[in-house]
Amino acid sequence: MIRHVINVRDFSPEDLNSLFQRTTKLKSAYKNRKDWVSTQGQLLTGQILVSLFYEPSTRTRLSFESAMNLLGGRVIGTENAREFSSVVKGETLEDSIRIIGAYGDVIILRHYEVGAAARAASVSAVPIVNAGDGDGEHPTQALLDLYTIREALPRRRDLTVAFVGDLKNGRTVHSLAHLFGQTASCELATVSHINFIGPESFQIPEAVTGYLKKFGVSFEVHVSLTPEVLTTSDIIYMTRPQLERSKSEKDRERAVESLIDGKLYTLTPKLADCLKKSAIIMHPFPRNKELPEELDVLPQARYFEQAGNGLYVRMALLLDLLEK
Ligand code: CP
Repeated sequence: MIRHVINVRDFSPEDLNSLFQRTTKLKSAYKNRKDWVSTQGQLLTGQILVSLFYEPSTRTRLSFESAMNLLGGRVIGTENAREFSSVVKGETLEDSIRIIGAYGDVIILRHYEVGAAARAASVSAVPIVNAGDGDGEHPTQALLDLYTIREALPRRRDLTVAFVGDLKNGRTVHSLAHLFGQTASCELATVSHINFIGPESFQIPEAVTGYLKKFGVSFEVHVSLTPEVLTTSDIIYMTRPQLERSKSEKDRERAVESLIDGKLYTLTPKLADCLKKSAIIMHPFPRNKELPEELDVLPQARYFEQAGNGLYVRMALLLDLLEK
């Protein structure tokens, strides 16, 4: 049976454990580099990764492509499939996937519609990896986020996380919150309480909070980022306003007014002074003004390591999917 990665629920605790162990080994081996080319560097020789991106990306596409190259495979693809693939001539996503499956061994798909990855998987002859589907999910980001948390705060099970910003449209938040729920009662448990901080009209969807309730993860909803919330949080997960999800100019204006004007969802240097010394600041990136560059020098800033871990987690995932 073909294994697809559509959402984080596709991973059992055993899958996650083995993925993270493999990630750690790959990270250490890559940092040493000594025998890389003759060992890990040949594991996927002869295989092809297709990157099919209908939306822009810096980290996800390039880290997947780098991972495949480093493992000895090759990469083909289009970084702007909405303009440069035959979708312009009326081809359906399903037909594109049926055809591309004959040219590559795995398809990394980013699409602007929720459910696109699941639709692609339903007709694909090769594994589909959801690299973000509209305001739905971004499972591989959640995997690297959880890996980063466990690396930065090892053996903690009682952490409080604050998700800040556009929680309605932020697919990385949806996937990571789901992952906190699904790992709540296994040895990978890290978080016992979640603060969702955002304007009412951009709050976390009920589908996500319903899932957390099912797994007994407690949560609270807040309308602004305050020192009180920050002093009790171990992980501050900032997100940008997803203005590209606005359906009209009026919607966009409303989003700017709620999420940007007033700076209620900006981690200012003054607010950052309230953080615990042991806390970590994360952001899936790209960042806008909600995470000022002045914070980059803080010991709590982990977002560059977080993005860096994407390479190793995605290497481990490609091996899980493709190693013969
Ligand atoms: N975090 C993330 O998905 O970044 P990109 O949009 O640059 O891939």
